[in-house]
Amino acid sequence: MNILLTGGMGYIGSHVAIVLLEAGHHVVLYDNLCNSDAGVLARIAKITGKEPIFMEADVRATSTLTETLKNHAIEAVIHFAGLKAVGESTQKPLAYYANNVEGTISLLESMSEVGIRTLVFSGSATVYGEPQYLPLDEAHPTSATNPYGRTKLYIEEMLRDISLSDPSWRIVSLRYFNPAGAHESGLIGEKPTGAPNNLMPYMAQVATGELKELSVFGNDYPTPDGTGVRDYIHVMDLAEGHAAALSWLAGHFGWHAINLGTGEGYSVLDMIAAFAKASGRDIPYRIAPRRKGDVAACYADPGKALRELGWQARRRLHVMCEDVWRFQRRLPRP
Ligand code: NAD
Ligand code: WQD
Repeated sequence: MNILLTGGMGYIGSHVAIVLLEAGHHVVLYDNLCNSDAGVLARIAKITGKEPIFMEADVRATSTLTETLKNHAIEAVIHFAGLKAVGESTQKPLAYYANNVEGTISLLESMSEVGIRTLVFSGSATVYGEPQYLPLDEAHPTSATNPYGRTKLYIEEMLRDISLSDPSWRIVSLRYFNPAGAHESGLIGEKPTGAPNNLMPYMAQVATGELKELSVFGNDYPTPDGTGVRDYIHVMDLAEGHAAALSWLAGHFGWHAINLGTGEGYSVLDMIAAFAKASGRDIPYRIAPRRKGDVAACYADPGKALRELGWQARRRLHVMCEDVWRFQRRLPRP
């Protein structure tokens, strides 16, 4: 199949590209490199022995996107492109609406024009807002607590509307829980620009000594050890979930939401212990106040993904930590 990945040079997209190339698909990466670098291409080629096609452009450049879809006879799109930092979205909401919502409108226009009707969207568990019950299944009410989350929610509504307006669409929103980990080669992984916002990349930089200590945001949550609990999913499991979703769409019309998570929750202290063990390094930490907007616990009911896609996460927490550590050690130190 000829598949275009918007935002395909980024953290999740590059891992999905590997899985698709290894399965024999033709892959076009379409990315403006606002949060990634062109070096990813050579690393994907080194891992897979195949170089994907790369087009440096913005998803909002509708005519360029349309030409790219035509020129490469694209049959399906996976839409990763967007901005994703929750804190930044509260400071620059318009940048988030422009990139994420306007970007998706542009993509849908291009796909409509060319007649491509198969789309996998990078959704997020953030659309569940404050959990009303756990584990979170796809029927849980949706809401948003910040501009980033609102863009994901609005995009899902748009995708639902477009699939109702034309029943030939086949769309799945994959609602990711907490993606973490790296490819086992250590060649690609999550490389935040500036200080990391998320737990795993922050911990990895504490382990190398680049950052002094980790602040644990709150130890008075109603969880077993008082720290926040999340469903961390290995990025390669997540990537395999995209391949399964694409195959599944061949037999399904309409818009669908499917969780990609493990169903297991780990606390911040569990994560520190696991990373310390995998790296053989100390992870100095101190208890800090709660971070605004954080929930106590968030983990998936992954049953629908298993029932529908025949997919479930396979890689355990220690593998995730070992893979992040291998990637982190290979990075040039600043
Ligand atoms: P990332 O920033 O590493 O990748 C996104 C890629 O999109 C980058 O390469 C960036 O350069 C590109 N991009 C951004 N805006 C663009 C535009 N207007 N035109 C073209 N390219 C553009 O992020 P990621 O972690 O790989 O996330 C991918 C998707 O998954 C995002 O939509 C994100 O919201 C979603 N998601 C991520 C997480 C997570 O924790 N990483 C969780 C849930 C959902
Ligand atoms: C995990 C846990 C923190 C950093 C975010 C987005 C979400 C989704 C995934 C895109 C929490 C604690 C963290 C630190 C800490 N992204 N923590 N010290 O907030 O669950 O999810 O990424 O859709 O929308 O909000 O992930 O990795 O930031 O935090 O104690 O320095 O680690 O409080 O309990 P989060 P995270």
